[in-house]
Amino acid sequence: MLVLAIESSCDETAAAIVRDGREVLSSVVASQADTHAIYGGVVPEIASRMHIESIFSVVDSCVKQASLHTSDIDAVAVTAAPGLIGALLTGLSFAKAAALALDKPVVPVHHIKGHVAANYIAFPELEPPFFALVISGGHTLFADVRDYDEMEILGSSRDDAAGEAFDKVARVLGLPYPGGKAMDELRALADPKAESYRLPRPEFPDAPLDCSFSGLKTAVINLYHNALQKGVELDRALLSRSFHEAVADVLVPRAINGARACGRNILAVAGGVAANSYIRQRLTQAAEKEGIKLYIPPLSLCGDNAAMIGSAGYYAYLAHGGAEFDLNAYATMSPSETF
Ligand code: KG4
Ligand code: ZN
Repeated sequence: MLVLAIESSCDETAAAIVRDGREVLSSVVASQADTHAIYGGVVPEIASRMHIESIFSVVDSCVKQASLHTSDIDAVAVTAAPGLIGALLTGLSFAKAAALALDKPVVPVHHIKGHVAANYIAFPELEPPFFALVISGGHTLFADVRDYDEMEILGSSRDDAAGEAFDKVARVLGLPYPGGKAMDELRALADPKAESYRLPRPEFPDAPLDCSFSGLKTAVINLYHNALQKGVELDRALLSRSFHEAVADVLVPRAINGARACGRNILAVAGGVAANSYIRQRLTQAAEKEGIKLYIPPLSLCGDNAAMIGSAGYYAYLAHGGAEFDLNAYATMSPSETF
């Protein structure tokens, strides 16, 4: 089954053609990051307008790169939640129109299920059930993936997502948006012998898989501003490394403990922050120590793309078929819900 997939939930306009949920025939991603960088973050209205400008050419080049004719497409999958509503509606409207023109079903996909499905593309042998850690710009959650289209959220951030914290701290340190990658590079420059800055690692005894990154972000900002007021030079690389250590100290044990609590010995990681070299390294060490099989997609499949939506869309279609044409988009929606 050939699925044309469309992703436009934030600041990437993306299209892909995926066969049977696993094989990517083509994948095109047009990032708006350079434009939003001018404003230090995503400006929703600009995002919607840029999606409408580029969606046709992105889909067109994706179909051409796959050496297909549009009549070969069996279904159109599209991210319908969660995300910026204007951005989602652009992709959804295009997907409905394409499905109608091709007389094929339109399949709504939850963006988080898409991130998890990036692992099905990268690792042909991976099958549910498994435990998942999703770390993106908008979400940080721990989920038991029971089946291809069924997951239960067992913990999440109570405030900022990990990626959001990366971006906000990066901004304070004078790094360009989106700051995750630049933070990663800055961390590598820290003196390995220097003692880390002390930063919080909050716990929630009543919900051991919940986490919080807003206090961590504030602690970094306070450190930075106090140093500035005292005229003390702050070690930015060391601060980045200390921040990374705090984030990993929160994420890694929860991922391992969550997998254990669900009786899973497979852990799959997904989302833009899964591209972080230090978090990858810490997860690899912990999984090896605990005898857990770890899957983390290559960097190209961590950030937003439509190939992952094509994979999740295939499995969503097998589970539920196509949607009605009055399908709407939703800015927020839990991945345990269905459309
Ligand atoms: O999954 P994603 O592309 O979009 C959302 O669904 O939100 O994630 C984007 C996030 C941004 O916050 C970005 O700074 C972060 O992923 N990111 C990273 C790295 N590369 C991207 N964070 C830490 N280290 C990286 N290497
Ligand atoms: Zn995403």
